[in-house]
Amino acid sequence: MTRIRSWAGSLSRQFALAVAIVVAPVLLALIGFGLLMVVSGHDVTVVAAIVLGAGVIAVVAAKLLAAGILKDVHAVRDGLTAVGRGERDVVIETRARDELGELAEAGNAMIARLRAEEAMRDQSDAARRNLVAAVSHDLRTPITSLRLLAEAVGDDIVDEQTRRGYLARIRTHIDALSSLIDDLFELSRLEAGDIRWTLERVPLGELVGETVAAMRVQAEVKGVAVSAEVPEALRPARANPEKLQRVLFNLIQNAIRHTPADGSVVVRAAPVADAIEVEVADTGDGIAPEERDRVFTAFYRGGADAARTSAGAGLGLAVSRAIVEAHGGRIWLADAARGTTVRFSLPVAG
Ligand SMILES: Nc1ncnc2c1ncn2[C@@H]1O[C@H](COP(=O)(O)OP(=O)(O)OP(=O)(O)O)[C@@H](O)[C@H]1O
Ligand SMILES: [Mg+2]
Repeated sequence: MTRIRSWAGSLSRQFALAVAIVVAPVLLALIGFGLLMVVSGHDVTVVAAIVLGAGVIAVVAAKLLAAGILKDVHAVRDGLTAVGRGERDVVIETRARDELGELAEAGNAMIARLRAEEAMRDQSDAARRNLVAAVSHDLRTPITSLRLLAEAVGDDIVDEQTRRGYLARIRTHIDALSSLIDDLFELSRLEAGDIRWTLERVPLGELVGETVAAMRVQAEVKGVAVSAEVPEALRPARANPEKLQRVLFNLIQNAIRHTPADGSVVVRAAPVADAIEVEVADTGDGIAPEERDRVFTAFYRGGADAARTSAGAGLGLAVSRAIVEAHGGRIWLADAARGTTVRFSLPVAG
């Protein structure tokens, strides 16, 4: 803590003191000279009157001067007192162009910074509260189902086939819960800057091909065609293959989820300046303009997903963004004539 000390009293008292310090020795000297009879009594009276008169004029002038300065000092004092009381809409206004003006300016800069920091803190408090609410919601719903299913499995009157059905649903909920926890863990580690993975030369043709092949079954069930278009000559990216695959997986899964039967999903990669851009383009319903800014926010689910009745926690794009940014890249929604195109950049391996 920095302590700022001032030993001076009130300004007007200081001005009066300064005048007294000048006038008093002169008067004392005059009295001394008068007593020693160096000068005549008449001269002492005249000079004393002049000195006293000058003293009075000095006090009046000092008071007038002090009044202007005091007004500015009071403005600074009142402004800072208000800030101390918790007010933040405070602007210290002075007419001074001297050190007092600088003091007021420094005070105003401090208040502005305080205001900005508090606004940021409020915002992150609200984000944390929303996050906790979303996590509790996404945990409570499957746990409630799990409790009911567990009770049903234990019920003696349930036949074997129904019991197996319940067990399959239990497994689905457990899978969803563990992927939610994985995503949350990944996101919190990435946000804390905990990036321990190694970066390698990743040939994208291979990685994209593998991921698309792994998703094909899921797509075919929905009647959606998934394909990859990666030029042979594309230089490898500098990335962590597992994390990159996770991004591709999230984007392709979203695309399949939002594309109706007979639609298609295409994954492309191409060099752009000294980076590589990868995109996942679908022919689905697209994302509403008012939702485009928010889809990368954790737990944000748009359109029909907002009702939170279907699978998904709203973490896929947030995790993807954190991973891409940890690689030094960027992810965004590209303009598309139809459906949704999510594009991201990666550095080229040197
Ligand atoms: N390809 C897409 N087409 C249309 N809407 C999309 C697409 N991808 C994402 N969205 C919208 O963005 C929202 C956020 O996507 P995100 O992947 O983060 O979450 P999710 O898919 O709902 O859940 P999770 O990925 O955690 O399973 C989705 O709820 C959806 O509304
Ligand atoms: Mg998703």
